[in-house]
Parts: sequence; structure tokens; C-alpha cells
Amino acid sequence: MTEQQLVDLLKDMTLEEKLGQLTQLDGSCFSGDGPVTGPEQELGIPSEKFPLAGSILSVTGADRIEQIRRICIEAQPHHIPPIFMADVINGYQTILPIPLALGCTFEEEAAKKTGDIMSREAAADGLHITFAPMVDLVKDARWGRVMESTGESACLNSRMAAAMVEGIQGTKENLDGHLGACTKHFAAYGAPTAGKEYNTVELSERSLREEYLQAYQAAVDAGSAMMMTSFNTLDRIPATGNEKVMRGILRDEMGFEGVLISDWNAIGELVFHHVAVDKKEAARQAITAGVDMDMMSGCYMSRMEELIRVGTVKEELVDESVLRILRLKNRLGLFERPNRVEKQPEFGKELLSEESRKAAREIAAKTMVLLKNEESFLPLDREEDIAFIGPYMEEKGILGAWSFFGDREKSVTVLEGIRSKNPSAQAKKGCGILNPGQTIYGFRFHETNEMTEEETAQSIQEAAEYAAAHKKVVLALGESALQTGEGGSRADITIPDVQKKLLDAVYAANSNLAVIVFAGRPLDIRNIREKAKSILYVWMPGTEGGNAIADILYGDSVPEGKLSMSLPYCVGQCPVFHNELWTGRHAEDGVAVENRFQSKYQDIPNAPLYPFGYGLSYTDFSYSAVELSRSQLKRGERLEAAVTVENTGRTAGAEVVQLYLTDECASVARPVRELKDYQKIHLQPGEKKRVVFTIEEDMLRFYDRDMNYVAEPGAFTVFIGTDSANDNAAVFWLEE
Ligand code: BGC
Repeated sequence: MTEQQLVDLLKDMTLEEKLGQLTQLDGSCFSGDGPVTGPEQELGIPSEKFPLAGSILSVTGADRIEQIRRICIEAQPHHIPPIFMADVINGYQTILPIPLALGCTFEEEAAKKTGDIMSREAAADGLHITFAPMVDLVKDARWGRVMESTGESACLNSRMAAAMVEGIQGTKENLDGHLGACTKHFAAYGAPTAGKEYNTVELSERSLREEYLQAYQAAVDAGSAMMMTSFNTLDRIPATGNEKVMRGILRDEMGFEGVLISDWNAIGELVFHHVAVDKKEAARQAITAGVDMDMMSGCYMSRMEELIRVGTVKEELVDESVLRILRLKNRLGLFERPNRVEKQPEFGKELLSEESRKAAREIAAKTMVLLKNEESFLPLDREEDIAFIGPYMEEKGILGAWSFFGDREKSVTVLEGIRSKNPSAQAKKGCGILNPGQTIYGFRFHETNEMTEEETAQSIQEAAEYAAAHKKVVLALGESALQTGEGGSRADITIPDVQKKLLDAVYAANSNLAVIVFAGRPLDIRNIREKAKSILYVWMPGTEGGNAIADILYGDSVPEGKLSMSLPYCVGQCPVFHNELWTGRHAEDGVAVENRFQSKYQDIPNAPLYPFGYGLSYTDFSYSAVELSRSQLKRGERLEAAVTVENTGRTAGAEVVQLYLTDECASVARPVRELKDYQKIHLQPGEKKRVVFTIEEDMLRFYDRDMNYVAEPGAFTVFIGTDSANDNAAVFWLEE
């Protein structure tokens, strides 16, 4: 349709119809079996009005989507097709690694491919928009949703965010064969106080703008069709009712023109935040803030009519939002081709195709981070005498907390992956993932460890005996996927106690040990580091996880993942991140204990257990000193900073060459160092490559005392190396 046709359509719509378009309902509203209960009942919308909804969430499967679509268009005076949306976060049927793992690739192509695979599969099954990517910057490992982000760096997150949006949306303006992206959660949902889910966010405007907004901006620039508001407050005002943030920053400053949707019941929650006295006031605040679509609070549909009738809200505000939604439907081609799965027989081939599985396996291998590898314990020899042990050896639940559309039965376990290379390999479980009798509730599943204490003790004993009878041990441990994700905040970020017992018993029996760690967050793994010769951090690797792990264990893939989030020494250090600010008493580790009055702890180091950007390979890389093309930089000029990296080992490998900057003196406190650029290179044994970065004034900018975004003259130190703790430095000056 032309813009004029959309405007004409809008003019012809009744207010009720318009409010329907602004409403998103859960698929459960259309289950039709029995009376309406649960969240559907809370909506305050009579069930016969449900089909007026402009969008439906969490329905999957082309047939079911088609059924609901028909119900909606038949009920609607103008037969406007609904948009179907769902949480396709790291895969639909082919599940790829969780986003935090994806961040560890430092590879935009991997993010793009991930977006492309999940999007084509879900589009083939009738969906139109995914609630992804989540680009919230995260620093606190206690928060369960760190798994959905690509990590702690604004530089890395922004590049990954743009790549995800491009991958999800494909190259065609009409998104044919792909989904639209709904970037979330605007803004700063990733900074809840104390890592506690849905908690208050207290950020200075400076931090918000300098760090947190960058990835959202990258997603907007990449053309994200939609954006979702966050649950949290910002400067004490809930984001969903925050006009300054939504209209002021997102639309006016950042240039977002797409559809803004609230998070689930976030409009209704303005009442629970105690900033709106009732749902009517909540609706007023949200529409005033510029929230176009109401996800599952019913406030717009049930309360807006009255607000307009008494003149509290102008109908133009509603019209503005409806028009944005109609434009999106038009872009999706829904008016011409309401059922975008016409080509389903062909599209059907997309689901879990060989090609997608292959890509998932390759990408998963790239996400895994080798944290330790003493005595070159890894890679293993196919003929070696190895005891494979641990609750993750035959576990299928390795898809991550948000992957409920994927069939976990289709995932390849670690043992299956190993057996494809070593058919006689055997494994012992040792214990459950959770403690005996423990249950964790998720969104659609819950998980219980049915093993009793006695059975567990027996099983650990057998595992230890098994370990003693072999030359080497590979143990697969970790937290459960359900201990992460939404509602997955944890105050103890270690592996469950029962697994600690298993680790101790196995180690006592055979200390020639490697540990594979499954996790949705950076865990406190001090006990593992103490005991294991080798540690491979595999996150939640997805459908092909077991194959990818086996590829790395046996050297068919060489580890190249680099931590996208610092791995804390212990939970008391959280949040710990690479770009902390200078304080008046900055302390490097190693300061004498009697030097009490320094910014440090009495009982733990300042440095994380493993720093951001860290990750080993099976080969070694050497770095030359940093060479600068000039040491004085005039405004508007650029300088080149270069290093020569050499593969000094015996295997080909990839290295992420990382550039960090320190502003040595500025009008406000600045990060001790901060990632500003990176390049991934591949080197054959003995091969050298000169890696050149361009530094320009823009990279030196920050918000000064008066909130101007400027670069101030003075000295800057540039570090180029293998991780955020490298000390390969050179200094240059920005002139007046
Ligand atoms: C989450 C969103 C998600 C939405 C719809 C909310 O609870 O915060 O990220 O997209 O549910 O499932």
C-alpha cells in the first residue's frame, strides 16, 4: 500500500479498531477452551474483543498462526492482518549458542549468520517479528539475563547488535523470508542494582549515554523494525512511561522511526511501580511517552477510550502509533500477502537443515573459551585412555534458557559428539546437574533432580573409581540452563554443591583432569581452576554443542573464543568489568596489605579471575610493540596504531587483536582502559600479520563536565594485545 492508502485506512478506522491495533495479546487468549483465566483475565478486555488485537505473541507453527490470523481478520472491520511475534533469541529449531557466547566470537559474521538462520527458520514457520536482539549492556554476573546479551563492552555490543539486526532482517526492505527485529530492552535493563531481576537501575546520564545507549543506537542505525521498552526505572522513572527517554532520546535523538512496544505488562506495572494510580493513568503515561504497542496489559484497549473521551489524551497520539504499526505491516507485506508462509513447502526445508546444523557447529566452536591448558592437556588424542564423567556428558538441555521452541531431543550431547570421533567412549554421570531433590522453575519447563542423596553418593563414588582407572579425566560440569535467563538471578554463582562434591571426589581419584563448563553467565570457578589442568568454557552451545565440543577436545577445531564478560574472582566482586573508572585510590593487585587505604578488598584481589577479552588457543601468538604513525594528533586527523602478530606455535589459529584506550587526563573520571576496536585474524604456524588500527578523534570522545560529547586534548595510551589486561602500550597526544 502507498503511504496515502495507509493514511486513508487509518482515517476510516473506529477508535476501538485503532486501540485493537495498539494491542498485543498472548496466543493463549485464542486457546478457546473454557473461561478466560490468568493474565488474560487481568487484561480487562472482553474475550470477544481479543480478535481485534493488532499483534499476537508466542504462537508458533504455520497452521496455528493461520487459524488465529483468520479469526482476527474476520472479526476486524478492515480485515487488518495481525503481526505474529515470538522470542526467537538464539535459534528457532536449530539452536545456536546463547548471545553471551556469541559475543565471545568477536565476529560480526557469526552474529549475522546466527540471526539469519534463526530468522529464516522462524519465518518459514509463519512468524513475522522476533523479540531479539537483546543488546542490553551487562556487567553483573548475578543477573540471569546476561546470557541474552553479548556482554560488557559497548564497542563489542554495538557491532554485534548491528550484525544481529542485519542477519535477522536480511537484505530486502520487505524482509521477505526473514523476520523483523525487535531490539530490546530500552533502556539499560542490563544494569539492575545488585544483579537482581527487574530491579531499579541507577545510572548517571553520562554512563547511560556513553556506554549503554550505544548498542541500541547501532541497532536503530541497522534498521531494527521495532524496539521494546524495559521493565526498569531510569532516574526513578519507569522506562515504559518515560517520555524523556522514549520520545526525547529514542525517537528525537537516536532517530528511531519504527514501532515501540512495551515489555510484557510493563504498562500495567506502572501501577506496581507506584507511579500510576491505576491502569488508566498507566495508559496515559505510556502513550504520552510514545509507546505504540501494549504487550499484554490491556491498558490501551480497556482504558484509552475514556482518556480520549474526556480529553486527557488526544486521539492524534493514538493515530500516530497506529500509523507506525500499519506501516510496519505494510513493510512486512502483510496486506498483500497476509499469510507469509505461502511458500511453506520450500521454506519447510529451512528447519534444522544440514547447512544450518553445520553453521551452528562451527559457530559454537568459535564461542568456546579455553581458560587454562596446562601441559597442553588439550587437545586429546583419539587413542587416549580417558574417563568421561559428569552430569553434562549426556545432557540434552544445552540450548539456553530462552530456546523453548527448539527440540532439546535434537541436540547433540557431549558424549554423542565424542563418540562420533571415538566410538567406544563411555561416560559416567556422577551426579545430577542440580542438587538432589532440587527443582528450578522456568517459563515453560521446570527441572528437578530426582536422584536421592544416597543414590548420588553412590554414583559419585562410582565416578571416582572410574576416574582412577583411566589415565585422564574429562569432566563436564555447570549450572543448569534454568538457573539463567529471565528470573534467573543468583547470589551464589558457583556450580551446584553436588557437582563440587563430584569434582572433589574425581580429583582425589585422578588429578589428571580437564573440565568443560556449561554456563549462562560468568561463574565463580575458583575451585575448578585450582583442580583442573584444562578448562573449556562452553556456555550453552545449542543443538550442535556436543559436536562442537568434541571438535575442540580432539583438535579438529582450535579454540578462539575470548571472554565477552569478565569472569569474576567471586560473587563479592560483582559487578567487575574491564572499563572501571579511575578513583582517587586506584590499586593494582599486589599492593602491600599494610597499605590499607586503597581501593581494594582485604580478602580478594581486584582483578577478575579471567579478564574480559581473555581466551587461549592451541597455538601461541606473539605481539610486537605498538607502533604509532604519529605521536601528535591534530583534530580531524587520524593516526595508525599497528602491531605485528605472529603465530609462534604449531597449529593454525585465530586471534582477536584488541585495542584499548586510556584517556590520561580529562575533565571527568574516565575508564582505566576501554575496548575501542578489535580485529580477528587467522594465522598459519609461523605466519605473521601486521594489524593496523585507525584512531580518530571520534574514538576519544566522551561527555565532558557540561555534557558535551567531545575529545579533550592531552595524552592517550593505546594498548594492543590479546586481552584487556595486556600491557603492550604506546602514548600519543591530541593537540588543542
Ligand atoms: C521479557 C521479554 C520478552 C517478553 C515476551 C518478557 O518477560 O522481558 O524479553 O520478549 O517477555 O515473551
